[in-house]
Amino acid sequence: MALQQAAWMDVTFHVQTFGCQMNKHDSERVVGMLESLGCQAVGTIEEADVVVFMTCCVREAADVRLIGQVQTMKNVPLRKGSPVSKRIIAIGGCIGQRDGDGLFKSLPHLDVVFGTNNLASLPGLLEDVIEHGGRRAETLEESKAFPTELPSVREHAWAAWLPITIGCNNFCTYCIVPYVRGREKSRSLEEIAAEAKSYVDAGVKEITLLGQNVNSYGRDLYGKPRFADVLEAVDASGVERLRFATSHPKDLTDQVIAKFGTLRSLMPALHLPAQSGSDEILAAMHRNYTVEHYRGLIDKLRSVCPDIALSTDIIVGFPGETEEDFEGTYRLVDEIGYSQVFTFIYSKREGTPAARMVDTTPREVIQRRFDSLVEVVQKRAFEANQRDLDATVDVLVEGVSKRDSNLLSGKSPKNQTVHAPIPDGVSLESIIGTIVPVHIDEARTWYLRGTLL
Ligand code: 5AD
Ligand code: SF4
Repeated sequence: MALQQAAWMDVTFHVQTFGCQMNKHDSERVVGMLESLGCQAVGTIEEADVVVFMTCCVREAADVRLIGQVQTMKNVPLRKGSPVSKRIIAIGGCIGQRDGDGLFKSLPHLDVVFGTNNLASLPGLLEDVIEHGGRRAETLEESKAFPTELPSVREHAWAAWLPITIGCNNFCTYCIVPYVRGREKSRSLEEIAAEAKSYVDAGVKEITLLGQNVNSYGRDLYGKPRFADVLEAVDASGVERLRFATSHPKDLTDQVIAKFGTLRSLMPALHLPAQSGSDEILAAMHRNYTVEHYRGLIDKLRSVCPDIALSTDIIVGFPGETEEDFEGTYRLVDEIGYSQVFTFIYSKREGTPAARMVDTTPREVIQRRFDSLVEVVQKRAFEANQRDLDATVDVLVEGVSKRDSNLLSGKSPKNQTVHAPIPDGVSLESIIGTIVPVHIDEARTWYLRGTLL
């Protein structure tokens, strides 16, 4: 007997998300599916009858955190009046895909496992477990179709993530993603344009296009539409702000770079992961570009859009990284002057080619390299923000500052966090999700502060 709609209505759920934007978007679909069954979303694990973990396995720290968190859930009592006899715990996302039913061994109180390719199976698996008890795991090698038909509940009314590709064909030697997200698949241009239009009609101000490597969009489609065509189509939807992530430097074309100078909605900010500033390490990573090529891309971007805000990812301590290799990375970061750098210490992932490479650099040496990189990152980010002192920037208001609820918090076109006092007589509700002009009075390393005009 299937659970009746009325029974689902008594079930509460909470989704906890780790990792990248693609996972956050998948979580929006999980929320959408469970809400369309009638379940009620709640803000905490304590209140939830069903807890879904959307997991990440890109680095070991995320693995360890998840296991610890699921283990401690044994001690969290079920809420009074719950319609289920035991809290149902589900693991989805990349760890679910990688480990499948193997997770039941280390987590005996886990009930459901699903993967990245079968989000749509979750309601059926939950229903089975609630009705019949026991545990269920289901993962698929490849997704059957692009998961666009699943309902989705957006975190913010004014912003939408729009996946244009799923999966990755690059196999960077350190990276687990191609093994847990499968081969790259592109959505059709028509479908993307229609979805963008529907968001704009619903009042969305900002669309972020998603893919592991958006620049290789379309290679698997008839007529081979390119990423530059996607940018044009989404701009034509009338959206106010357009962003995208992530770009692989080997596939960033001149046509896409040119769009930063011509497309009305494309924001002057680009995340372009360099990973390393050493040609030897880039080759060992299987990145397929040189430092010189990367610098050339930055020069072209700056000639088209001089004030573009650049961000990047850097891995420190890849197997075999010498002092000289690291100096190359340091120099690159110092010279480019990124607005933001996500710095990672290399984390060995079983099953990837780099896991078999000899890795003899002492931990303290890697930590010292990492610390010196973080120092230069902060210095350059602080300098980059000074360029906006006394400028007036358009801020998309997202809410209030976490530290001070009298300050509004939002994002500039360059994706900087901007805070400003909410003027007397103005309600937050009236400006949330709108774009307002703010005069910048103070520029710190990670945020700007100003006055609403
Ligand atoms: N170790 C450390 N960092 C990694 N990343 C991916 N795999 C690893 C790994 N094994 C980083 C890369 C990537 C970002 C999302 O995570 O810098 O761009
Ligand atoms: Fe991982 Fe490289 Fe694919 Fe990015 S491009 S997801 S780093 S394999």
